[in-house]
Amino acid sequence: MKDHRKNPNGHYHFSGHDTTVLAKKYGTPLYVMSEDLIRERMDIIHEAFLKPYPKNKAAYASKAYLSMHMCRIVENKGFHLDVVSGGELYTAMQADFPVEKIIFHGNNKSIDEIVMAVSAGVGTIVADYEEEIDIIEEKAKELDKVVNVILRVVPEVEGKTHKHIMTGQKDSKFGLPIENKAMLRIIGKIHSSSALAFKGFHFHIGSNLYENEIYRRAIERVMHLIKLIKEHFSIDTEELNVGGGFGIVYDDENQRKPISFYVDAIMDEIQQQCRAHALKIPSVIIEPGRWIVGEAGITIYEIGAIKEIPGVRKYISVNGGIADNIRPALYNAKYDAVIANKNDQEKIATFSVAGKCCESGDILIHDLKAPEVERGDLLVVKSTGAYNESMASNYNRLPRPAVVFLKGNASKLMAKRETYESILQRERLAELS
Ligand SMILES: Cc1ncc(COP(=O)(O)O)c(C=O)c1O
Repeated sequence: MKDHRKNPNGHYHFSGHDTTVLAKKYGTPLYVMSEDLIRERMDIIHEAFLKPYPKNKAAYASKAYLSMHMCRIVENKGFHLDVVSGGELYTAMQADFPVEKIIFHGNNKSIDEIVMAVSAGVGTIVADYEEEIDIIEEKAKELDKVVNVILRVVPEVEGKTHKHIMTGQKDSKFGLPIENKAMLRIIGKIHSSSALAFKGFHFHIGSNLYENEIYRRAIERVMHLIKLIKEHFSIDTEELNVGGGFGIVYDDENQRKPISFYVDAIMDEIQQQCRAHALKIPSVIIEPGRWIVGEAGITIYEIGAIKEIPGVRKYISVNGGIADNIRPALYNAKYDAVIANKNDQEKIATFSVAGKCCESGDILIHDLKAPEVERGDLLVVKSTGAYNESMASNYNRLPRPAVVFLKGNASKLMAKRETYESILQRERLAELS
């Protein structure tokens, strides 16, 4: 693997680019995505999961970061795409992403979204609850289509992660409880429909997981269901989608696990279970988002206000915050950062990095070790490629940052910085009566 953090001239370099030069060229705050790193991650997944098991599929979870350009990269790498809304589906379609490789999720898809997906011919719809199956069937019949359906089940296992990004536990808004007396009837309904094709099951345990045992436990539970289906309907479950959730490096280098840590355990458990129950091995699907783009992105900010509260702490404030990275406030997410123009200097100070939004909770990093800083220095927050830009808002009417992609020696502006004017574009003024 390339060393993307080389440090010539004392500046912080990311994916071979001097981040101070990027800041000067494109302004701050700035999202920077390394296409090279994204592609490298997909290649690793290919080697570890697709090459040894040709029936398997890898889908990129577009909620982590989506743009038409990202869709092109995903397509180019031969991955499938997981979308969760009409907006994500529309983006993929505008980028001419092959619809048959789209997996459409959502715990509350609107009727319009279902019609959009069915008429576009998306590859698979992941049904989340029983009534939704009826709606998909009705719309498929109206549109004269046959829809591949996967059923999302809740495996009732709890991952070690923040409760806001835990989805596999019993009390979840997603999916059907696995211990469900109606399960056979529901599957029977899909199986017997002329407009639906039952393909299998989906679960997603949670996000940013650093353990693999929990995937084994979830698989064991779902395999019992697969066995039951075989006994009742004599059908082999074709697909088992085990979701995403693979953890990445945020503030602790040691947390990184190779992809094989997850997928080897997943495949081993599935093979063992299939052998034990005399079942055919299904095509296994993974849906990583964060693992592909998280470490491939950084955010560059400029430091403004510096404030010391004697005996308490020192704050450095940046020209962004909760509006471009809501994760620290939303679920206490941890990040690491460097001073881009002083990357060779000793880290003799400790700061809290505050955003500029009008919320006390707008603190990006607590207790960052850094060199002494001054107004105008540049702060690079690492591993912001996932769930930053895609969760960004205009809180306090902050224009959302531009997005720059890096490929080799080239940098390219792929999404313009919003302006005050563009924020107002949705609005109109009316006469007060
Ligand atoms: C159904 C589903 N699949 C995949 C993912 C991607 O998770 P991650 O980005 O942690 O890999 C999510 C995240 O919420 C999800 O809900």
